[in-house]
Amino acid sequence: MENKLRIGIIGLGTVGCGVVKVLSKMDDVEIICAAVKNTAKKREVELNCITDNPFDIANNPNIDVVVEVAGGCAMLDVLKAAIQNKKHIVTANKELLARHGAELFDLAREHNRVILYEAAVAGGIPIILPIKTSLSANKFNSVAGILNGTTNYILTKMDEENLSYEDCLLKAQQLGFAETDPTGDVEGFDAMYKIAILANIVFGKRIDVNKIYKEGITKISALDIRYANELGYKIKLIAQAKKVDNDALDIRVHPMLVSKERPISEIKNATNAVLLNGFPVDKVMFVGPGAGEFPTASSVVGDILCIKSEIEKCGEILPMTTCHHSEYANQIDIEDTKNCYYLCIKAKNEPGEIGKIGFECGRHAINISCIIQKEAMDDGSATVIVITGECLEKDINTMISNLESDGITKVVNKIRVM
Ligand code: HSE
Repeated sequence: MENKLRIGIIGLGTVGCGVVKVLSKMDDVEIICAAVKNTAKKREVELNCITDNPFDIANNPNIDVVVEVAGGCAMLDVLKAAIQNKKHIVTANKELLARHGAELFDLAREHNRVILYEAAVAGGIPIILPIKTSLSANKFNSVAGILNGTTNYILTKMDEENLSYEDCLLKAQQLGFAETDPTGDVEGFDAMYKIAILANIVFGKRIDVNKIYKEGITKISALDIRYANELGYKIKLIAQAKKVDNDALDIRVHPMLVSKERPISEIKNATNAVLLNGFPVDKVMFVGPGAGEFPTASSVVGDILCIKSEIEKCGEILPMTTCHHSEYANQIDIEDTKNCYYLCIKAKNEPGEIGKIGFECGRHAINISCIIQKEAMDDGSATVIVITGECLEKDINTMISNLESDGITKVVNKIRVM
């Protein structure tokens, strides 16, 4: 390798352009070429070489590192070719890593190359390398966080402005926080990919992304947020992975009521947070911008410079940055998890209804920590809010279906409590 590290970029969207802008201020890194879908499109950055064939990057002998910021899984074969051609990879692509990481990391190991991906989780927050380096003395019990800025922005606006989910989504789209098709964010896919990647390095096991339970935020109502507030909670989309019995892992993404006393309840708008709990460090929280042109470019360029400095120091890549594990985790089903629950129940406003709720909970050994009757409506219904003690997901589900079987009571929403 010559003095300058030679880069090929795949994707010149918001993040790609940010990376080019940051790298253009550096003398020791040179962008050789970029691959994009549409070479005619006007962009904020200008490069001497632009191609619409990403294999031009993967096969170019003058490129040392391929930076992939295109998103989705379409670049899998391109990255495999790049690794086979002895290029290191820096990527922000959480979906590709969560779905095809095993294949890519095996190939990288075989060819003595690294795949760095600091930008794939929590944008500008340094979390991947700190877990692998500064926190490497730890055995972790759990990792949890707010890993999606779009949904956190929507939930924050619903909370602060007492607006519906639909109104806040529209606002987020108008301000450019949410995509025109918001599915990946609001249905929890983005956070699911990120927690799969975090769980992989925190617990040293491969994760099957198809076994991760996932719920988005589309069913959260302004009323849920109001009732949660009255009871001392905020509602957040939480991604979490924790160790349970026999080293199995409980990994999921869903909305949760978070006590206002917990610092993570204060994380607002598009900010992300990652909480780690392990020994000997105990609890640590990382907070910062989870997305955006420059925060994400900060992580991408950090990875590029990490590769450069390691190669310069010892002529090769240090083991710290490589993937060492190949065993899959034993992931438990959501039905076997234990949680406390918030239930928003539409009951008939007549004697004995709260008794029925109490009876059904008692029959399934579910303790009621709190029960409040809210509005009695003109249609003869009344809203009852219940917070339960810890119980099995399968037991609460049976309890709910028994409660609903007479057709008088409906559980409008069930939200787990953190
Ligand atoms: N769409 C993501 C978010 C950012 O809203 O946090 C990129 O991962």
